[in-house]
Amino acid sequence: MSLFQKKESAPLPPPNHIAIIMDGNGRWAKKRGLPRTAGHAAGAESFRRIANYCRELGVKYLTVYAFSTENWKRSTEEVGGIMTLLGNYLREALRDMEKNKVHFVFFGDLSRLSPELRQLCLEAESASREYDVQVNFCLNYGGRDEIIRAAKAFAQDVARGEKTPEELDEATFSQYLYSASVPDPELIIRPSGEQRTSNFLLWQSAYSEFVFMDVLWPDFGPRELDEAIAQFHRRDRRFGGAK
Ligand code: FPP
Repeated sequence: MSLFQKKESAPLPPPNHIAIIMDGNGRWAKKRGLPRTAGHAAGAESFRRIANYCRELGVKYLTVYAFSTENWKRSTEEVGGIMTLLGNYLREALRDMEKNKVHFVFFGDLSRLSPELRQLCLEAESASREYDVQVNFCLNYGGRDEIIRAAKAFAQDVARGEKTPEELDEATFSQYLYSASVPDPELIIRPSGEQRTSNFLLWQSAYSEFVFMDVLWPDFGPRELDEAIAQFHRRDRRFGGAK
């Protein structure tokens, strides 16, 4: 460092829980004249890079939107391509469990997945239980669907006499969501220039800071994550209070 260079201050700690909408794979592929599935393959690489970087930074929970309840509307070829990438990734994760040391959890209705993929999800989840850093894969996930399922499950507990309506408060309801026992994300990042939540973590994002970035997901790397975390630290979080 030269004498005249400003000494860099220590980086601020990352949030405990970061969630990402991995958007822009299709546009990334289109720009290159490639099929959309090539964009998703590049997106899967980007995910690997960011998951490793989050672990290095000490992020405790990383939640990624891999496939929504609405994504079934895409072509059979594209849906099949994403499912194949997920399957390959989980097989690799099961092989490298000791190296990655990540606990895999799945948010979403896995019953619509192929039996093979569902089995891989269950195996990855149970084989990685002992690890502290948690990656939540949202697969066939929708925020509204999650809330409706939670409401039904609570109603069933009431019908069985295990709960009373008076017991229902925010903390109790949270325990019926896929994210039960996971703290809400402090930071939600959406790359690709779109500025909407697209049915992602509707309940959990009540007080999350959103960072929207003009970069396509396959081009998103550690530098972009650092920038999103820096933006997060510049926000004034009041949680409805006043200063
Ligand atoms: C949104 O981009 C992305 C998806 C619907 C799929 C995300 C899936 C992956 C990144 C691969 C999953 C695999 C692993 C291992 C994580 P888009 O296709 O809507 O992009 P566009 O808006 O540019 O069309």
